[in-house]
Amino acid sequence: MSIALVILAAGKGTRMNSDLPKVLHQIAGAPMLVHAMKAGASLDPERTVVVGGHGFEAVQKAAQAYDEDAVVVEQVEQNGTGHAVMVARDALAGFAGDVIVLYGDTPFVQPETLSRMVEARKDNAVVVLGFEADASEKYGRLVMEGDTLTAITEYADASDDVRAITFCNSGVMLAKADVLFDLLDATNNENASGEYYLTDVVEVARSKGLATTAISCDAAETMGVNSRAHLAEAEAAFQSRARAELLADGVTLVDPNTVWLSHDTVVGRDTIIEPNVFFGPEVTVESASYIRAFSHLEGAHVSRGGVIGPYARLRPGTELAEDVKIGNFVETKNAILDTGAKVNHLSYIGDATVGEKTNIGAGTITCNYDGVMKHKTTIGKDAFIGSNTMLVAPVTVGDDAMTASGSVVTKDIEDGALALARAQQVNKPNMARKLFEMLKTKKALMAKGKE
Ligand code: UD1
Ligand code: MG
Repeated sequence: MSIALVILAAGKGTRMNSDLPKVLHQIAGAPMLVHAMKAGASLDPERTVVVGGHGFEAVQKAAQAYDEDAVVVEQVEQNGTGHAVMVARDALAGFAGDVIVLYGDTPFVQPETLSRMVEARKDNAVVVLGFEADASEKYGRLVMEGDTLTAITEYADASDDVRAITFCNSGVMLAKADVLFDLLDATNNENASGEYYLTDVVEVARSKGLATTAISCDAAETMGVNSRAHLAEAEAAFQSRARAELLADGVTLVDPNTVWLSHDTVVGRDTIIEPNVFFGPEVTVESASYIRAFSHLEGAHVSRGGVIGPYARLRPGTELAEDVKIGNFVETKNAILDTGAKVNHLSYIGDATVGEKTNIGAGTITCNYDGVMKHKTTIGKDAFIGSNTMLVAPVTVGDDAMTASGSVVTKDIEDGALALARAQQVNKPNMARKLFEMLKTKKALMAKGKE
């Protein structure tokens, strides 16, 4: 059966106290909305419809940045979850499969859980995802008779008996598209909130003799984000799960709680990560690498055997071949370093390529920016860049070439050449001693003048 995703993301999220629409607040470097879309993507959907409202353009942009085929429809007035799904109707015209409704502010539903819902759909017209919550929580209540879900009652509309039920509605619902829209047509907004409730389709389905059920998942999956405090909790939950996955995958985290991962971080087996390492989005570290303490990586690829840090900063476009070493206080950006290249201390390598086994000395800077444009530095293989070399781009350094320490290189260096680009040294005999004498006398005179 083909699947379409409908992701509800029109709400304002008042309790976030933010100019940013709630679903665009980030967890592990990706908007909450993208987490929900990723979860849904595991079902290989034929169509994805996001229902936006507050901050519509920004939501549309974020949704389509993740999936350019996503259709984003606007719910101008937020008249309830049922109304929101109805707004998606036109975008699903001609679609004959199942619809799964997810919430943009419920980022952690797991692919296995969604698969279990698809399985349960075989014997049921409507499948709802539930979870166990504390009786004090104000979620909608799932009223069950055996395996049959007889109703979902919103907390505001529930009697004390129903409020005592702890099996709660996550909001995730699965039904055949045409059935879902027919059921929604039969709902109304005569309830405590005056809204069209998606949840009301269950009772309508029952009245039509359709089979309805709910399956259960861990509450951690259905955790919704309504405030900054929830956002911080969600981040913590994501991080602890992602760290545990890396440990299980054979990655050593010396102090797991201090390593921060992104939603898409990939780390190979037998890599060791020291404390206080931060991974921004789009980082892959291959096997048997060593990421030392206090390093910050984003948009970078570290191949097998890389040694990074301590205190290294790999910025987007960093592409390191096997056995590359990037040491302390080194920043790389848009830099391709070939096998065995080393940049061990205090350097900036940006908009550059560095050949195999080349050694970049301490304090080297690729001067890539002229104040208006960026320029490229190309360094060959087996080259030696002396400490404190300024490579004023655009510039090319050949294979087996050297630069003298302190050089300001403004011209290309051919293969095998040594570039000396600094002032000649002149030694003046005894001049230092004379200078010291002069200065000390001056200081003494000044001290006397103050008396
Ligand atoms: C909803 C459920 C409740 C469930 C709870 C789980 C209904 C009527 N109630 O309640 O049973 O326990 O979620 O968190 O469905 N949205 C729109 N347009 C709207 C209204 C909502 O897009 O007009 C979106 C919101 O942005 C949000 C989601 O739908 O992502 C849920 O809406 P929310 O107002 O939080 O519903 P709850 O009252 O929490
Ligand atoms: Mg809610």
